[in-house]
Amino acid sequence: MNTVIPATPTARIEVQPLPTAEPCVLIIFGGSGDLARRKLLPAVFDLTSMGCTGHGFDIIGVGLPAMSNDDFRAAMRQSVEMSNAARTFSAENWQKFAGKLNYLSGDLDSADTYTELAKRLEEMRAAGSSSNHLFYLSVPASIAPKVIAGLGGAGLNQNGKGWSRIVVEKPFGRDLETARSLNKTVLGVFEEGSVYRIDHYLGKETVQNILMFRFGNSLFEPLWNRNFIDYVEITAAEPLGVENRAKFYEETGALRDMVANHLLQLLSITAMEPPFSLDADAVREQKVQVLKAIRPMTLEEVARRTVRGQYGPGVLEGNLVRGYRQEPGVAEDSMSETYVALELRVDNWRWSGVPFYIRTGKRMAEHMTEIRVHFKPTPEALFVSGQNRQPEPNIISIRIQPDEGIAISFGAKRPGLGMNGITVKADFSYRDAFGMNTPVAYETLLLDVMMGDATLFTRGDEVEAEWRIVTPIEEAWAQLPKPQFPNYAAGSEGPEIASALMWGDRRWNTLRRFPR
Ligand code: BG6
Repeated sequence: MNTVIPATPTARIEVQPLPTAEPCVLIIFGGSGDLARRKLLPAVFDLTSMGCTGHGFDIIGVGLPAMSNDDFRAAMRQSVEMSNAARTFSAENWQKFAGKLNYLSGDLDSADTYTELAKRLEEMRAAGSSSNHLFYLSVPASIAPKVIAGLGGAGLNQNGKGWSRIVVEKPFGRDLETARSLNKTVLGVFEEGSVYRIDHYLGKETVQNILMFRFGNSLFEPLWNRNFIDYVEITAAEPLGVENRAKFYEETGALRDMVANHLLQLLSITAMEPPFSLDADAVREQKVQVLKAIRPMTLEEVARRTVRGQYGPGVLEGNLVRGYRQEPGVAEDSMSETYVALELRVDNWRWSGVPFYIRTGKRMAEHMTEIRVHFKPTPEALFVSGQNRQPEPNIISIRIQPDEGIAISFGAKRPGLGMNGITVKADFSYRDAFGMNTPVAYETLLLDVMMGDATLFTRGDEVEAEWRIVTPIEEAWAQLPKPQFPNYAAGSEGPEIASALMWGDRRWNTLRRFPR
């Protein structure tokens, strides 16, 4: 009789509870905008429901549309309730949270707005709100300098009664020159220790886990270099289009929106040397060193090593979707890229000769953000004769999202006669190990700012190092012949020509459906 062995359910490991930060008043410029509604409010709502924001925590949304506090609360309730990011939504929790929300309507160009804000903060303090102030700039990079100057003009940068910190959203500037100028403006008003340049990818659990995976295991780090690694592939593909952000996207494009920050951060964490400690500066210093080792491309290299694309109409999940140029607010002859693929070289001792292929695109076939580290094949001496078959080279896939986890592929002998190699996988899944109750990126990052921890934020010289790589590409694209847009269909794998960036046996991974 066959014995049936029950599958042992994986024991879930408890996610660590989040700490309680010092309370503050969070002032969101762009308070009724897309980011505030989709990401920031759901995150602070969850933090508050979980008791992380403390007594005296309040929020002021600042924006141009005229709205009463009640209108603002109703609009935010709708966004938080509909958001997948708010894990703790209930009518009861909302009731407790709603009273913390305030709205201030004002023109960000006008000094009066900041005087009014200072007055409002003082009144709230007298009524029991915290005297710590966290200013969040959820506004386009071109408007950020005005807000910073306004805060300085109203004396809101100096807070004798508590701390004043400022968070600046990405993209930080639009090229090297504007990033330098924005750094100068913000450091003229706030000191570096109070400035938090946000890149929400750094708040993702799976991104932070790269440090643990690489430096907390003796198995991988000795192999993590040019002697063993053939190439590294980093993909951030999303089925989403530009949504209602056409104005922003027309000016920004995929290179500035995704590569200049998120993808270069993924690359630098994958490639960095071990820091001597986990202090903010020790970690950031090693990331900056990687970015500095990426040689900016010449015009000729940009022509050979970059591909840009724009989606046309297509079919996504069985539905017809329009092309980028047909999206509301997009010019009929727009040349903004919605897809980028690049080959970058990190010219240092560890990585010399190893290509880093990165790509990102909107309206792609699947949602998939993943880092794949491809190892070199073993010598072909043993398994290539007669019926035998060599297994594929090893790959470590770090799945950032969705289906978060890490898979290691390796060769196994296919049972039976002969020595036929096949590729099998060891797969760690966040869902199985921890459940899905892990904090979302904006929760982690907002809590970090409240606690004064800048490790997961980008340093001033780091954003400049990112632009030093990206700006020559933008400049070269302006000089090179214009590509034929659209050049990929919505719902596809991106422009076919991107496969030409890889040579030999190298291939982009196919975008696959989740769950696998
Ligand atoms: C934002 C970009 O920074 O990141 C968006 O502006 C993009 O265009 C988003 O959709 C992707 O973030 P995530 O966390 O969904 O991968």
